[in-house]
Amino acid sequence: MARGSSRGSDTRERKWEHILACVWEDVEAEISPMFEDVRIIHRALPELDISDVDTSVEVFGKRISFPLIIAGMTGGHPKTGEINRRLAIIARKLNIGLGVGSQRAGVEDPDVRWTFEIVREEYPDGLVLANIGLPQLREGGPDLAQEVVDMVDADALAVHVNVLQEAVQLEGEADAAGFIEVLEEVSEALDVPVVLKETGAGVSAEDAKAVGDLVDGIDVGGAGGTNWAVVEAVRSKAHGETPLGYAFSSWGIPTAASILEVRGALGGGPVVIGTGGVRTGMDVAKALALGSDCAGMALPVLRKLLAEGIHGCVRFLRALAKEVKIAMLLTGSKNVKDMAKSPIVICGSLREWLESRGAPINKICRGDRREVTWFDG
Ligand SMILES: Cc1cc2nc3c(=O)[nH]c(=O)nc-3n(C[C@H](O)[C@H](O)[C@H](O)COP(=O)(O)O)c2cc1C
Repeated sequence: MARGSSRGSDTRERKWEHILACVWEDVEAEISPMFEDVRIIHRALPELDISDVDTSVEVFGKRISFPLIIAGMTGGHPKTGEINRRLAIIARKLNIGLGVGSQRAGVEDPDVRWTFEIVREEYPDGLVLANIGLPQLREGGPDLAQEVVDMVDADALAVHVNVLQEAVQLEGEADAAGFIEVLEEVSEALDVPVVLKETGAGVSAEDAKAVGDLVDGIDVGGAGGTNWAVVEAVRSKAHGETPLGYAFSSWGIPTAASILEVRGALGGGPVVIGTGGVRTGMDVAKALALGSDCAGMALPVLRKLLAEGIHGCVRFLRALAKEVKIAMLLTGSKNVKDMAKSPIVICGSLREWLESRGAPINKICRGDRREVTWFDG
C-alpha cells in the first residue's frame, strides 16, 4: 500500500470534509429510527430502589458504566487528532465505549497515525474499538486488520460496510463482491472480537444470518440518524457535481427494526450495538428493550463536543445516562439484560414492518427480545 501517497492525502482531506458536512449541514435521514413506535410498559410498582439499578454492562471483555459506545467517527486528518483526544477524555470520564473512525488514512499515511493512537493514550483501560472498511480488508486481509487493531490496542475490531455511501460518493468504489469471505478470513485470523458495523442503512435478518457464525458482534448502524448518502450529496454539491445521494435520504432499515431483525435471526449469540439516530436516553432505553447490549451514538456527541466542549458533552451524556437509569427503574429492570425482558408494545410503522417480515409480534412484545428468534432464512 502506498504510504504518505496522494491516495493518503485524498483520504485525509475527505475525512475532514465529512466532519465539516456533518457539523454544519443537515445530514440526518428523512426517515426516523422508529423508536417512537416502541412503548415500554410502565410499572407502577417496580419493587426496586433506583440505587439498586445497575446500568453497567460487559462488552468485549470490558465493563462499561453505562451501555453506550461513542460510535467510530474520526481520525486521519491532523485536525481530527484533537477531536479524538477529547472524545477519549469524555469516554474515560464516563467509562463508556469509544470507537475510532476508519483507520485507512492512518495506514496509508504514517504522519496521521497519531490521530488514532492518541485515543489509547488518553483512555488506557477503556473499551476501544478499531475501525476499517471491508473494501480495504479485501485488499489488505488479516495483516491490515491486525495493523489497525495494534494501532489503538483495540478490544475489538469494527469492520464497517457502507455500500450505499460508496455508490453515491464522488470517488466511491461500489464493488461489494466477496465481502462475506473476507469477513470470515479476518475473523478467523484475529484474536480480538470482530464486529460487522453498518453506518446508517441497517443490517437485515438475511445479512445477520449470513454472518452470524463469523462475527462476535453486529453494530446495526440503522437508518434514521446520520445518512451517508446525504453527506456525500453535500460533498458532491460543494465539488460542483450532481448530488446523487439525496434520492437515498430515506433508504435503509430503521434502527429499531434492524435490532429486531438481527436478534430475530441470531437470538442471544452476538453482541448487538444499537446505533443510528439514537438521540436521547429514551432512545438508548428502547434500544436495550429491543434486545441490544448497548447503544451507539455518533453525530450528537460530535456536535455537542464542538459546541460546548468536553464539559458540555459530559453533562449531556450524564443526563442521558440518568434518563436510562430512570427508564430501568420504571420497568423494574435491575440490570441492562432485564430491559430486554420488560413487556413492550409495538405500534405504527414498526408494527407494519414486522408484520410484512412475518415476525411474531405478540411473542416479541411479551418475550425476551434477546432470545426470541423468528427468522429462519
Ligand atoms: C462525522 C462522522 C464520521 C463517521 N465516520 C465513520 C467511520 O470512519 N467509520 C465508521 O464505521 N462509521 C463512521 N461514522 C458512522 C457512525 O459510526 C454511525 O454509524 C452513524 O453516524 C449513525 O449514528 P448517528 O446517527 O448517531 O450519527 C461516522 C459518523 C459521523 C457523524
